[in-house]
Amino acid sequence: EDGLQTRAASRGLTFGTAVHSRQLQEDPSFRSAILQECASVVHEYELKWGHIERERGRYDFSKTDIVTNFAIEHGLKIRGHTAVWHEALPAWAPEAFRREGISVIERHVRSVLKRYSGRIEEWDVVNEAIQNYDNLPNGFRNSLLFQEFGATFVVAAFRAAREFDPNVKLVYNDFGIEYDNFRDRARRKALLPLLRSLREEGLIDGFGTQSHLTAGNPFNPKLLRDFLSEVASMGLSIVVTEFDVNDTKLDPDIGTRDKAVAEHAKRVLDVILDEKAVTGVLTWGLTDRYTWLNEPRFARPAGVRARSLPLDENYKRKPLWEALASCLSAA
Ligand code: G3I
Repeated sequence: EDGLQTRAASRGLTFGTAVHSRQLQEDPSFRSAILQECASVVHEYELKWGHIERERGRYDFSKTDIVTNFAIEHGLKIRGHTAVWHEALPAWAPEAFRREGISVIERHVRSVLKRYSGRIEEWDVVNEAIQNYDNLPNGFRNSLLFQEFGATFVVAAFRAAREFDPNVKLVYNDFGIEYDNFRDRARRKALLPLLRSLREEGLIDGFGTQSHLTAGNPFNPKLLRDFLSEVASMGLSIVVTEFDVNDTKLDPDIGTRDKAVAEHAKRVLDVILDEKAVTGVLTWGLTDRYTWLNEPRFARPAGVRARSLPLDENYKRKPLWEALASCLSAA
């Protein structure tokens, strides 16, 4: 039966998912699920600065290229995730920033765009710069990047990318815009001026909304719809970059939980896909077997593993798969 990519393509959308080299190498079912369901992939981890340039000046793309070569071999598009993110800086970066300033970031942006020129045509140049409830000017996150450079690191990274390769689609990626709560309201408010200023300088082409959803959060469709319309009105395309549904607030019974996850996903994704500026949807993984939401830091109730992705731990399609299939193929 057709995969999600086929349904997405029928309405001009690209469907894809996040991939780790280890899963590709060790799990043939994972490889075949990607080929069945996806037209694009993104590196879940192995294209991040902290992974590829552990030692200053010595890039190691060996793991990265297991994913990149697989994608190229199978004609899958690749999203570049991500050039500049405070959570994925090399250990040597803070010292280098202090000594040499913003050129360290500009050099990294050029290095990765150069290496994948012609193979990665869309980059998350900067990821998660906005927090707003850190009470900083224009809602910036109080990260090491902001502490070192102020808000200018975002423009510098985008300018370095644009000047290096004007053909690459430059995307700003962030999370937490969906819900009717204080944090998401604050983030939506702070994101608009940042996107608008980048657009006015001709430095950005798209907005990446990660869409890490949480079933049970208060959702007011109008707030999300109006925000996406505002972004689209700037001439930006929109891509759903890391879709999954956190199910920690739900009844642990699998049947009940799967149904609630699927319903929540459909409710939100229908609103997002109503915006014609949306070009694609990527989930943050395909199978519950590998979801980041099972990481210990989430302290889930004992034995209640996450059921946040379209396929279960044995690659069986779930109600969430049906929900995605129906959203993606809706007229
Ligand atoms: O692969 C190494 C392994 O060799 C090593 O032994 C182990 C212990 O250090 O680390 C392993 O790498 C881990 C990697 O995931 C692969 O499992 C890293 O420590 C760990 O930090 C990394 O976490 C990733 C995280 O981003 C930080 O890069 C998650 O997989 C990934 O799901 C998560 O994705 C982020 C997006 O990039 C941005 N949006 C939020 C999203 C979820 O946090």
